[in-house]
Amino acid sequence: MIKHLLSAADLDAPTATLIHDIAAEMATVAGREVKKLPTLRGRTVVNLFYEDSTRTRTSFEVAAKRLSADVVNFSAKGSSVEKGESLKDTAWTLQAMGADAVVIRHPASGAPNRLVNWVHGSVLNAGDGTHEHPTQALLDTYTMRSRLGTVAGLNVAIVGDVLHSRVARSNALLLHTLGAKVTLVGPPTLVPPVFETLTPDVRVGYDIDAVLPEADVVMMLRVQKERMNAAFFPSWHEYSRRYGLDAARVRRLPDHAIVMHPGPMNRGVEIAPDVADSPRSTIVEQVANGVSVRMACLYLLLGGRS
Ligand code: NCD
Repeated sequence: MIKHLLSAADLDAPTATLIHDIAAEMATVAGREVKKLPTLRGRTVVNLFYEDSTRTRTSFEVAAKRLSADVVNFSAKGSSVEKGESLKDTAWTLQAMGADAVVIRHPASGAPNRLVNWVHGSVLNAGDGTHEHPTQALLDTYTMRSRLGTVAGLNVAIVGDVLHSRVARSNALLLHTLGAKVTLVGPPTLVPPVFETLTPDVRVGYDIDAVLPEADVVMMLRVQKERMNAAFFPSWHEYSRRYGLDAARVRRLPDHAIVMHPGPMNRGVEIAPDVADSPRSTIVEQVANGVSVRMACLYLLLGGRS
């Protein structure tokens, strides 16, 4: 079994499916009055967050606590990182404290890959720069499976700021592994043709209206202002008009199609509020599923099953 989860490419189809199956078992715990399993009693999970996060950090925290692990939340703000301490020195400190798993979010792509050299425990990538976010891809594919029954054979349109999106990259890789077809859609500045090489069968498209009638899943991405160092589109209004998912566009989707978004949303930019809150939207389910999937990941990586 794998020790670290750094990239969605670390997962073959049987492992991803095993995580989905375990997540489905973990989900039953959420419905109980006592939402706890003793599985990771005595183990320590450190959340090492160098970037802001609402969903992912709390989700990992709840997941670890539901498995009875001790959880240490470390955020760069208010720590010695602000005094200039390097990732390596921080890692050694965590190592000295006996971390069995380190969940890391970092603005630098590849930071989790460095961390595996400095700690003995498992490393879980909770988002590194514009690179990857594998647990998000696992929870998204889990959500597709629970809503649509399967992932294999689905047509998935991933729409928006693909260039800056670790969510898009990890999803494209995992969806390919699980046999879904992916179309990346957005303005050419945010979906450069090089993305066609991400997997053997990923497609790139620039016209959302042409893609929607064929889509089983449409995954909207946040426009990541904080990662933009140039003007990638003329105006917010123009972006929203060309690529935003509003009620009129939703009517182009097949009846069974679902609408996803990893959050946080720019309501009114990439997704209209009424679409985000509609029955087709899985946005709240994705958050709940995130806890079950992260419980499954911690369980597997920390040796719950060999
Ligand atoms: C994403 C992230 O941080 O990469 N959010 C998340 O983890 N739910 C997507 C985003 O920030 O737009």
